[in-house]
Amino acid sequence: MENNRMLSTDVESWNEEEMEETLRPQTIQQYIGQEKVVNELNIYVQAAKHRNEALDHVLLYGPPGLGKTTLAGVIANEMGVQMHTTSGPAIEKPGDLMVLLNELSPGDVLFIDEIHRLPRIVEEVLYSAMEDYFVDIIIGQDATARPVHFSLPPFTLIGATTKAGSLSSPLRTRFGIVLRMDYYSDSDLTDIVVRSSNVLQTDIEEDGAKEIARRSRGTPRIANRLLKRVRDFSQVYADGVITQDVAKEGLTLLRVDKEGLDATDRRILTTMIDFYQGGPVGIGSIAATIGEDRETIEDMYEPYLLQIGFLQRTQRGRMVTRIAYEHLGYPFEK
Ligand SMILES: Nc1ncnc2c1ncn2[C@@H]1O[C@H](COP(=O)(O)OP(=O)(O)OP(=O)(O)O)[C@@H](O)[C@H]1O
Ligand SMILES: [Mg+2]
Repeated sequence: MENNRMLSTDVESWNEEEMEETLRPQTIQQYIGQEKVVNELNIYVQAAKHRNEALDHVLLYGPPGLGKTTLAGVIANEMGVQMHTTSGPAIEKPGDLMVLLNELSPGDVLFIDEIHRLPRIVEEVLYSAMEDYFVDIIIGQDATARPVHFSLPPFTLIGATTKAGSLSSPLRTRFGIVLRMDYYSDSDLTDIVVRSSNVLQTDIEEDGAKEIARRSRGTPRIANRLLKRVRDFSQVYADGVITQDVAKEGLTLLRVDKEGLDATDRRILTTMIDFYQGGPVGIGSIAATIGEDRETIEDMYEPYLLQIGFLQRTQRGRMVTRIAYEHLGYPFEK
């Protein structure tokens, strides 16, 4: 029991943001997978550098944890420029955006995470900034209000979003480069786990890395998170080496199953089966029944369940598929 307690304190005290920073690849060389996206980008980066111009604006979209923020940093590094980071909800008014734009040197990257959450009045200021590198804003109020024209240096806006569909079309069309990130293959994720183990100075066997990769829902952030926890497990229960058996046992203890589903995934599916006969049921009802936030289910859980064919989207709502019933050990009676 002593050991169990050690393990759980370790997991709680670990700071995810710190870990993400240490494990983040810095260069295209270190960035694993997403070949299509990376190859395309590489061409644009080389061409822009050759012409000595700022890179065209880039929109990166795809599910959380696939490496959008990481890739933005890699782009800035490869261009040899500074990256200034902010997020949609952090920019409340045009003045906030002005402060950021004012800090840009020629060619710099302005990275706006969750760009679909930019307030409309800010978004409108961004249009001319992106298109012609200037902004016109009104300074002062009422009688003292006057328009002011600011010229900006050429810069690259990199926007990231999990919801490309929620972006307004005037904003979307101002991005010259639009790239979709996909879930990673098991083999790319295995490479990521091995790389992260090296950074964390952890001994891991190839089969141990594969086991973690297979259960990481195609997502590097999850792979790194599971690696960190399995590492804790291996230090407490084994001799610190992550073998396939150690990985299996550790992941079972964490209640991550063979398909990489965690307790919440399973709760979503079993709730749909137990309360709604497997659907069709609306996402709002599922959220209310399990007491999760609707957005969290839509962003974090549903995309992967759809991807592996455990959920199906229909006109009338979501449905649990036969293979999900089988995976959960429920009889399928339709
Ligand atoms: N291609 C990659 N190679 C190696 N590690 C990666 C790669 N992509 C992401 N990672 C790792 O996964 C972690 C999460 O990536 P990142 O924060 O860039 O995801 P994100 O797409 O921005 O997620 P969110 O949508 O939640 O902001 C990073 O800390 C990084 O260590
Ligand atoms: Mg991010």
